[in-house]
Amino acid sequence: MTNEKNTVSTGNAADLSGFAALGISGALLKATVAAGFTEPKPIQVQAIPPQLEGRDIFGIAQTGSGKTAAFALPILSKIIGLGTKRRPKTARALILAPTRELAVQIEDTIKLLAKGAHISTALVLGGVSRFSQVKKIAPGVDVLIATPGRLTDLVREGDLILADTKWLVLDEGDRMLDMGFINDVKRIAKATAPDRQTALFSATMPDEIAELAKGLLKNPVRIEVAPQSTAAAEIVQSVVLARTRQKRQVLSKMLADETMRSVIVFSRTKHGADRVTKDLARDGFEAAVIHGNKSQNARQKALNDFRDGSVRILVATDIAARGIDVPGISHVVNFDLPDEAESYVHRIGRTGRNGRDGIAITLCDPSENAKLRQVERIIRMKLPVVADHLGSPDPQRDPREKTERHFEPANDREHHGPRRDGRRPGNGGGKQRFGGKPHGERGPKPQGERPAAAKPNSSSKPDGFKRFKGNNKRRFGGKRPANRAA
Ligand SMILES: Nc1ncnc2c1ncn2[C@@H]1O[C@H](COP(=O)(O)OP(=O)(O)OP(=O)(O)O)[C@@H](O)[C@H]1O
Ligand SMILES: [Mg+2]
Repeated sequence: MTNEKNTVSTGNAADLSGFAALGISGALLKATVAAGFTEPKPIQVQAIPPQLEGRDIFGIAQTGSGKTAAFALPILSKIIGLGTKRRPKTARALILAPTRELAVQIEDTIKLLAKGAHISTALVLGGVSRFSQVKKIAPGVDVLIATPGRLTDLVREGDLILADTKWLVLDEGDRMLDMGFINDVKRIAKATAPDRQTALFSATMPDEIAELAKGLLKNPVRIEVAPQSTAAAEIVQSVVLARTRQKRQVLSKMLADETMRSVIVFSRTKHGADRVTKDLARDGFEAAVIHGNKSQNARQKALNDFRDGSVRILVATDIAARGIDVPGISHVVNFDLPDEAESYVHRIGRTGRNGRDGIAITLCDPSENAKLRQVERIIRMKLPVVADHLGSPDPQRDPREKTERHFEPANDREHHGPRRDGRRPGNGGGKQRFGGKPHGERGPKPQGERPAAAKPNSSSKPDGFKRFKGNNKRRFGGKRPANRAA
């Protein structure tokens, strides 16, 4: 731990430029500049100073606009200034993210920004060995990055103590507060230090989730670099009308164009992602695939292969829609429209990041028109139709290919279930979102990092948390419930 102060050491802030003018100094400033961050982005200009002053933040800025550094730098700066020892099993700052891959990426960014500043980090996430995680947090860490499921397990079992956690960040805050995560997140927040500072960041923020956020934030500074759900201006968006049976051929024809250098193809369901990947292989395109039914190793490998350019096409469910930063993605193709209009904003936001150009193409079957209208409503623009295949006959499948009937097994979507009150802004009372059945009957149970079937009964966790705080007896006899994966 260094003794550097987090205040600007020389001169007047007005004489300084870049991150120094925002209050970042010393080793942290050096590492930030070395990472190529010389000029702060608008969200960083607006969010860093109030966080250094101790304020809570409600921050909205487009995809790829630099939100990670906007929450990481002030926390790192404060921690460097502390200089005191950490207690065992504690974390000074906790950053919650909805997916494991995003948590890994946030840790990488923090390590880069804090290089040489003697900051310890650790990851707590599902799908991988917990032993090494427990070992890493045993002496206490400065910054812990976690997905809520595994974190909840470690707290319940006494391997992690949140009482000293003075900084809490909800990255992808609207996702962290929707039905799939809200209960875990509330419990986790309750276990942190009462005087903690909280920051919530996202590119999207439906009104009903913004209401929920009020319960976690104390008199927050509200920053909106652009209205929520605004897509980055650099992304050129378009729609191709094609019946579901035509989509395979349309996609393969598109991908024959080599200028599509690095493409992420989104599918609404895991089964659909597998089918698209298989069809691409039959049509001569090698693609990696990432979705929630894959092992964690396979998920991370697919993303890494795509990131380092060894594979040009990544087929993904919405598990890869939020936060993932692969700077060179040239195109996003929506093979179908997502269940939640906000997911569209996050999906297309994998391209056009940090001022780069990007192209987003959405294949739309007539049955998806209502979803398309909903997307247009939240992004506040009409999407141009650049091709219409509806008049063409359906292509014939090669009879040697096994025909796969499309059905949607339970849990096939990465979707995380209905919002807390089942309402959507402006959808006429929230009974229906895109038509079809009322929400509560429609989707699978909440499912994010933690498989829906693996949810422990609702009474077990709060007890676990309480016991952990004052009483060593464990409801589960010290063992982790066998069915918990995340
Ligand atoms: N000040 C800066 N100077 C240069 N590059 C930056 C700066 N801030 C962020 N970046 C880069 O911009 C890219 C996008 O940043 P980041 O992933 O934080 O975006 P985000 O706003 O969190 O997006 P999303 O909503 O998709 O999560 C990253 O590659 C990051 O390294
Ligand atoms: Mg982000």
